[in-house]
Amino acid sequence: MKAEVEALVDELKRLRKAGVSRVNVSEDAIRALKQFAKAPQLDEATRTQVLESIPEQVRSANASDFDEVFKASKTEVKKKAVRAGQGAKLPRPPSVTLPEGDKKTRWEALRDMVLNCRVCNQHVKPGKKVVFGVGNIDADIFFCGEAPGADEEIQGEPFVGKAGQLLTKMIQAMGLQREDVYIGNIMNWRPEMPTPTGNRPPTLEEMNFCLPYLKAQVAVVQPKLIVALGATAVKGLLGADSFRSLRDVKGQWQEFEGVPVMPTYHPSYLLRNDTKRDKRAAWEDWLKVMEKAGLPISERQQGFFL
Ligand code: URA
Repeated sequence: MKAEVEALVDELKRLRKAGVSRVNVSEDAIRALKQFAKAPQLDEATRTQVLESIPEQVRSANASDFDEVFKASKTEVKKKAVRAGQGAKLPRPPSVTLPEGDKKTRWEALRDMVLNCRVCNQHVKPGKKVVFGVGNIDADIFFCGEAPGADEEIQGEPFVGKAGQLLTKMIQAMGLQREDVYIGNIMNWRPEMPTPTGNRPPTLEEMNFCLPYLKAQVAVVQPKLIVALGATAVKGLLGADSFRSLRDVKGQWQEFEGVPVMPTYHPSYLLRNDTKRDKRAAWEDWLKVMEKAGLPISERQQGFFL
């Protein structure tokens, strides 16, 4: 049974990668998948990984409990996760104390702390960089992404690759420049992969480790609002909830440390799904952001991608 479920999960992942968002799954398979994801002996990161491979409507379908079925699955799933670089143990998240002083002094102290963070640096490949937030420390808008990718760990700056170029264009479409906003990530290092290329989302443990650094950036910058770019940013900011997908909260104001959060698509998603419909769906969220930030909205901006 274990092998069948793993084969099913692999097939669902393959279909999702191929762009299929709806599948017919038998009642038995739904029960098995739910039990697999619920098995108490799976750790949170592994559970999340399994749950995320299951399409939404399968996850929310009704199914009764089915206790014993997947106990044996733990080892296999764990092995896979470790192979993907997700098994590393991290120490407790750092406690961040900043010096007294003005914003600039505190922000620079925080940046030094993160750039010299021993744990962060241990996870960075030789010649690559830990990545800290950039931009205007007096910004009203704080963009929060997932984690640095290949370009970012080379340059030591968030969102400088293809997704970053699109983010910059979207910021300009709001009538702002990149230098007017603050841009950070949930994670300060590029999640390690066993392969030289490719990215993976950070584990919960990794996100939790970096969270104090993000909280401190928000506390220093004191933005009017945060834009959560993509599902991982949502998870990092709002807390892990395997049953809350980006789709559930996209376009609806949430909160992080008392600051309004607008969850929206990650620019990489928009690069992969380059349709007028997706772009408009994202832009609707950006219009809400502009409104909350008190930015003027022209008729032209109002009508983008219609
Ligand atoms: N994607 C992110 O989420 N953050 C970056 O810095 C780059 C790409």
